[in-house]
Amino acid sequence: MKESKRIYIFDTTLRDGEQSPGASMNTEEKIKIAIQLQKLGVDIIEAGFAAASPGDFDAIRRICEVVDKSTVCSLARAVERDIVQAGEALAHANHKRIHTFIATSPIHMEHKLKMRPDEVIRRAVEAVKLAKTFTDDVEFSCEDAGRSEMPFLKEILDAVIEAGATTLNIPDTVGYRLPQEMGAMVKELYEHVGERAIISVHCHNDLGLAVANSLFSVMNGAKQIECTINGLGERAGNAALEEVVMAMRTRSDIFEGIETGINTKEIYPTSRLVAAITGIEPQPNKAIVGKNAFAHESGIHQDGVLKCQETYEIMRAEDIGLEKNNRIVLGKHSGRHAFKERLEALGFDLSPEDMNRAFERFKVLADKKKEIFDDDIRMLIANEITNIPQTYELVGLQIADCSSGVPSAAVTIRHNGEEITDAGIGDGTIDAIFKTIDRISGHSGILKDYRVEAVSQGKDALAKVVVNVQFDESKSAVIGHGLSIDTMLASAKAYIGALNSYLSMLPSDCQIESCEGI
Ligand code: KIV
Ligand code: ZN
Repeated sequence: MKESKRIYIFDTTLRDGEQSPGASMNTEEKIKIAIQLQKLGVDIIEAGFAAASPGDFDAIRRICEVVDKSTVCSLARAVERDIVQAGEALAHANHKRIHTFIATSPIHMEHKLKMRPDEVIRRAVEAVKLAKTFTDDVEFSCEDAGRSEMPFLKEILDAVIEAGATTLNIPDTVGYRLPQEMGAMVKELYEHVGERAIISVHCHNDLGLAVANSLFSVMNGAKQIECTINGLGERAGNAALEEVVMAMRTRSDIFEGIETGINTKEIYPTSRLVAAITGIEPQPNKAIVGKNAFAHESGIHQDGVLKCQETYEIMRAEDIGLEKNNRIVLGKHSGRHAFKERLEALGFDLSPEDMNRAFERFKVLADKKKEIFDDDIRMLIANEITNIPQTYELVGLQIADCSSGVPSAAVTIRHNGEEITDAGIGDGTIDAIFKTIDRISGHSGILKDYRVEAVSQGKDALAKVVVNVQFDESKSAVIGHGLSIDTMLASAKAYIGALNSYLSMLPSDCQIESCEGI
């Protein structure tokens, strides 16, 4: 059989990526990312882990309604309930996949699963058979394959192929393998499996080798790479989609004839969207999408690039969709038409209502900020145009000069059409603001994380604040974003955003104080 050179890109930003500390996303945010991943040309979108929470289930179900070209996938442990939930969440997908897994390494089987190898095989087979009742497209993963024994891997893979698995994933779950070892393992499994199923890899980055391990796997027969935008993921993350794709494309002399379905011009916009939504910025020197990835600082380099771009650049910034100067686009005199065109050029396709809201926010911003950059606009859309009900809205904020006395804040919030003002003190100005919001809303939050950064250039750069707040001990923390040229205002907006997000996840009759703790 003629060897296929198409490599399938399986993106797990919304599942493994969401397991990055502080990266949890709400349903609306996941939908925005899923739409962008489809535009990027991802073959399979792992939209979540349906059985993990009602929120995950709902996000997968809603993603199936908006994604029609990419396959939508849900993770499921090899247990009946997980697989049924995955099948139900995916019911309306145009193309669906169930991804079921069980650990196969001696250390996991003995200490975590407390199961004998034959029981593990039995569970894997049952899981695949049940998954097949929901879809033909079933992926099976041998968790911790990187530390599993080869004879056992072959045995379990034979069994799940027989049960109907069509993709076999070989995760290096703890990022332990070196590239040659990963390549050798994939080669042996590929030769064993032959054309019976597709071999996939899922490499973690604990030793900084996830991308190298994925590339060596492709060289040795893997046809699917599991990866995430900006390399997000559990612990040190997963292989970065942008890096594996650009490596195979830039070194097409080595990866001869190999192709992916990725439209590389969508890489940068996707990276920005994910960073804006998760609040996790790629490190400045991150390959492909870091702030400095295409910047030339030294005079010698600048001179070289001006004479001939290829002296110091192996890729063109345009190929990943990066506009060289992040050019200044619009100002306060710009009209709706110009704004709409710029949004379209940046890849946003908004409904008329969202367009109106975005234009209003843009006008407010343009009044305060002289130059508006593309990144300001991206951030505005990603963070401020949300379908989460604005149960509480910030109307006003006043803070006292804290250099001399006790830090205090007066906050006015709109709730159910009524404006409520209160004032409070705190250990610092931000603490005073948050405590006052807690008092007004009757929901008391514990701040788990607070980050602030400048979005674009200039002294009047927009401040982006990301908070992670836990409003209920029995529930996970929620993210809130706030944008303003004033950091205190951005902080108040972010905190209220987190509160609204938390409330949107409660059953509607529970958004009152007496239901706290549910
Ligand atoms: O790292 C891992 O092993 C996983 C599996 C669930 C595929 O994420
Ligand atoms: Zn993983």
